[in-house]
Amino acid sequence: MMAEKKRKKKKGLSFRFWQRDLAIDLGTTNTLIYMPQKGIVLEEPSVVALRNNSVVAAGKKAYRMLGRTPPGITAVKPLQGGVIANFELTRKMLDYFISRVLRRFPFLRLRMMITVPYGITQVERRAVLAAGKRAGVKETHLIEEPVAAAIGSGLPVAEPRGSFIVNCGGGVTEIAVISLGGIVLGSSLPQGGETIDESIQRYIYRNYRMEIGLSTAEEAKKKAVYAADPPADLSYTFRGINLYRRTPDTLEVKASELHEVVGPQLAALTGAVRAIFEQMPPQLAADVMQDGIVLCGGNSLLHNLDLYLSREINLPVRRVEDPFTCVVRGASESLKFLHALALPDK
Ligand SMILES: Nc1ncnc2c1ncn2[C@@H]1O[C@H](COP(=O)(O)OP(=O)(O)OP(=O)(O)O)[C@@H](O)[C@H]1O
Ligand SMILES: [Mg+2]
Repeated sequence: MMAEKKRKKKKGLSFRFWQRDLAIDLGTTNTLIYMPQKGIVLEEPSVVALRNNSVVAAGKKAYRMLGRTPPGITAVKPLQGGVIANFELTRKMLDYFISRVLRRFPFLRLRMMITVPYGITQVERRAVLAAGKRAGVKETHLIEEPVAAAIGSGLPVAEPRGSFIVNCGGGVTEIAVISLGGIVLGSSLPQGGETIDESIQRYIYRNYRMEIGLSTAEEAKKKAVYAADPPADLSYTFRGINLYRRTPDTLEVKASELHEVVGPQLAALTGAVRAIFEQMPPQLAADVMQDGIVLCGGNSLLHNLDLYLSREINLPVRRVEDPFTCVVRGASESLKFLHALALPDK
C-alpha cells in the first residue's frame, strides 16, 4: 500500500517536472511570454529578420533592422492587425522565442495559452493553433485578448457582472463587455498605435513634403500626441528627408497640430463604444455605470486618452497599472480555470 502511494507520488512529481505552462501574448507590435512562478520571461517586438528564408534574428535585434536592412536581409512583421499575416514566419518566430525561454523544449510537455484578437475567424484560429503545434507544443489553448486583459486587470470576469474593457493594441482596438467568463458584447476596430504612427507619417508627407520613418512617427506620438488638451507650448522636431531639396532636414510641429491628426481614430473609438452601449441590456449598463471603463494595451498610454473618453462617454475611465503585461498575465491565470472559461479553441 505504502509502496503504491510512493509510486503515485513519484509519478505526479515527474509529470510536473516535465510539464511547463506558458502564456503567450502574440501581438501585432509585441510578443510577451509569461511563466507561472517566473513572471515575464520574454518581451520582444514581433519582428523577424530573414536571410535566404532562414531566421537570422527576431525581436529587438530584428526591430532595429526595420527600414535599415542591406540587400539580402529582410525584416518582416508576421502579424498585421492582430492576426497572422504570414503563417510560416509566425511559426518560425514563435519557435525562436519559445526556444529562447526553454532550451531543449521538445522534451518538455508544454501547455500553452495564446491570446487571439476578439472576433477572428475560425481559419485564423486554426492558423494560431497550428503554429503552436508546429512549434512542438503538446497542448495549445486560445483566449480572446479582451478576456485575458480583463482577468489580468483583476476585473470580476467569472461573476454575473458586466465589466467594460477597451484593449488598445498596436494593430487593433478591441471593445468588450464581459460577464460570466465570456464576451457578452464586443467589437473590434482595425486601428491602434501603429495606425496612428502611419497617420502621422502620411500627414507630415502630405503637408510638409517630408519623409519620416515609422519609428520617428512613433516617438513623436509618445512625446507630443495628446488625445485631449494638448499643451500649448509643446512641439516635436521631426528629422527626415525634405522631398523638395532631397536633403536631410528638421521640422518643428506643434502638439496642437498633431492632436488633429488622431481626431478621426478617436472619433471611431467613441463611435464604437457608443454602439456597444446602444446594444447593452440595462442590467449590464447599470454595472458599467458603477464600475466605469477600463483601458489597457500599449496604445492606452496615449496622453489623456482616459480623459478624452470619459468626457465623450460621460463615465469614469481608468487605465490599468500595467497596460503592456496585463493581457499575458491574464492568459496565464486563465490556465488555472480552463473549465470555467468560454474559450474559442473548440
Ligand atoms: N507611451 C506611449 N504612448 C503612446 N503609445 C504607446 C506608448 N508606449 C507604447 N505605445 C504604443 O503601443 C502600441 C503597442 O501596444 P501593445 O504592445 O499593447 O500592442 P500589441 O499587443 O502588440 O498589438 P495588438 O494587440 O493590436 O495585436 C504601439 O503602437 C506603441 O507605439
Ligand atoms: Mg495586444
